[in-house]
Amino acid sequence: MRSAVILAGGSGKRMKSDSPKVLHEVLGKPMLEWVLDSCEEAGIDRVCVVKGFASEMIDEYFDKSGKKAETVMQAERLGTGHAVMMATDFIAEDPDGDIIVLYGDAPFIDCDTILNSLDEHKRSDASVTVITAKVMNPFGYGRILRENGDRGRIVGIVEQKDCSPVQTMINEINSGCYWFKASDLLSALPKLERNNAQGEYYLTDTLSILLSEGKTLSGYVVPDNRAVLGANDRKGLLELNDIARKKVIEKHLENGVEFVSTDGVVISPDAEIQEGTKIMPSTIIFGKTKIGKRCVIGPNTRLENVCIGDDSTLDNVVAKDSKIGNHVSVGPFVQLRPNSIIEDFAHVGDFVEIKNSVIGKGTCVAHLTYVGDSDVGKNVNFGCGVVTVNYDGSKKARCVIKDDAFIGCNTNLVAPVTVGEAAYTAAGSTVTKDVPDGALAIERSELKIKKDYALKKLTRHLEKGKKIK
Ligand code: UD1
Ligand code: CA
Repeated sequence: MRSAVILAGGSGKRMKSDSPKVLHEVLGKPMLEWVLDSCEEAGIDRVCVVKGFASEMIDEYFDKSGKKAETVMQAERLGTGHAVMMATDFIAEDPDGDIIVLYGDAPFIDCDTILNSLDEHKRSDASVTVITAKVMNPFGYGRILRENGDRGRIVGIVEQKDCSPVQTMINEINSGCYWFKASDLLSALPKLERNNAQGEYYLTDTLSILLSEGKTLSGYVVPDNRAVLGANDRKGLLELNDIARKKVIEKHLENGVEFVSTDGVVISPDAEIQEGTKIMPSTIIFGKTKIGKRCVIGPNTRLENVCIGDDSTLDNVVAKDSKIGNHVSVGPFVQLRPNSIIEDFAHVGDFVEIKNSVIGKGTCVAHLTYVGDSDVGKNVNFGCGVVTVNYDGSKKARCVIKDDAFIGCNTNLVAPVTVGEAAYTAAGSTVTKDVPDGALAIERSELKIKKDYALKKLTRHLEKGKKIK
């Protein structure tokens, strides 16, 4: 079997943050999740996350996200070797398998890197295969030591703080990720010692231990250094965001998505957008959002886990966990809160909020309306300023509005209430009883007209003034 151990114990100290470093987000997705997703894509069977700092937030992340992994606790931070020791039981469960060690704060490790390095690991029948990178500025990284200069086999890794002046010139660095034969990792871990500049258990020392036992080491140099980049502080995090943002936009350009300008455009790596769709500036598309063909999205739009059909337009919209059909127009200035379904050919116009409701095919909610907890049928027309009164201060209730109904301006629909098929509500009515199919509900006090009101008022006013003088 293939397993992964992900080191996620680091604090957000240099981030100046209270949460674990691995939960900081790149394109709206925690760095840890990028790594978990790559493991999943690479078909890794078992994952163990080593947590430490603010571990309860890691637990909470797993509860909420539904991602599956075992977690183990590293209470004291005594180095990368120590962190992996915490996963000893997990590793021992499959002693004949292979284990990849990854960092939860290096989000760009991708499926190809994981699988290509595994191929090398298998091909060379190595005890450990180090994933390395050749970089311009190796400062701070462990350097790869090879026999006969830089071409020979790997004979060790030396940390920055332990480097000799000559070793500091080596530009092949340790990414910190490795494939191990589980049995060899298990035998080397107890032999680690804290005899280095930092007084830590270095995972890297497992290499020299295994080598001294006559085992084979191998290396896999990543073709693109970005695969092993990590973030230590806010600046590093912004750099990762910039790199990822450009890469995702390039992918969509290749797929036939149009961008007028990419200013303010941020798209999650998990979003899917079909060809012919145009993304306008200042549009943020997060989560597993899916957008069909020939849509126009934005400007100034934020979507999270929204599924949109073909030929729809969204202008100045905020939408979350919702579904929008084909040929729908939404906006400007609309909010779709979770569990909203807007069916084909519907129109949701300016200053409308929809929550946990279905808006049927061809229905029009054109302006200044709140629809919450409601099931609205086909071809319904909402006048301006309609409110579904779904909350009585303690509980929520639903409204049902059947096909072809006509809801007059400023109607209050006090839930639970049903407006029947092709029924009408008169403007300004507060509807507290069900309206049968085809009926008109009118709730209105008698309108009184006071003739010459303005003239009389003025006269009264003038007379009052005279008296005072
Ligand atoms: C490590 C490698 C170095 C490599 C570099 C790549 C060692 C000894 N050195 O150095 O060769 O070039 O990564 O980035 O392994 N962590 C824990 N618990 C600990 C210590 C670390 O969970 O006790 C986690 C950190 O949160 C981090 C990762 O392990 O995600 C790396 O730790 P860090 O201390 O940053 O290692 P480096 O000194 O960068
Ligand atoms: Ca009224």
